[in-house]
Amino acid sequence: MSIASQHKILDACCGSRMFWFDRNHKDTLYMDNRELEDTLCDGRKLVVSPDLKADFTDMPFSDESFYLVVFDPPHLVRAGDKSWLAKKYGKLNETWQDDLSKGFSECMRVLKENGTLIFKWNEEQVSLKEVLKCFDREPLFGNKRSKTHWLVFMKS
Ligand SMILES: C[S@@+](CC[C@H](N)C(=O)[O-])C[C@H]1O[C@@H](n2cnc3c(N)ncnc32)[C@H](O)[C@@H]1O
Repeated sequence: MSIASQHKILDACCGSRMFWFDRNHKDTLYMDNRELEDTLCDGRKLVVSPDLKADFTDMPFSDESFYLVVFDPPHLVRAGDKSWLAKKYGKLNETWQDDLSKGFSECMRVLKENGTLIFKWNEEQVSLKEVLKCFDREPLFGNKRSKTHWLVFMKS
């Protein structure tokens, strides 16, 4: 049995799972391309420990594997590599438009037909308008007025 077939939900870049109420939700596969343990400047522990270490631009899953995918990629282009922000959220590469475009396509590919994709984005450095240019479809709805957006897409 493949790892994907044991899970209904994919968190494609889980980081330290901060936004989860249950950080070990039984139906969820937690993926990230980093594994690390560190201490932030305020003394808090940072643990990134995905179930699977993999790249969201090239996911190791068959088409139509998950009912729900959540995509919360790094949102920072400028941050010191050793800064707590980069440690906590990761950092975008110079090729970020292409990377996010591939990541979005991969999320849609591994989503089952009629499945839901939740995309999270913070506009601190890059506007939502710029990011949405990387995607080939429009969100259905989301919290438009906030600086941190949660947008809903459906594969249909
Ligand atoms: C904004 S953080 C996620 C925060 C997370 N949602 C939480 O609640 O803590 C973005 C994460 O994307 C990961 N990441 C960056 N590039 C990636 C890639 N190509 N594939 C998978 N994960 C990636 C980073 O390591 C980082 O942990």
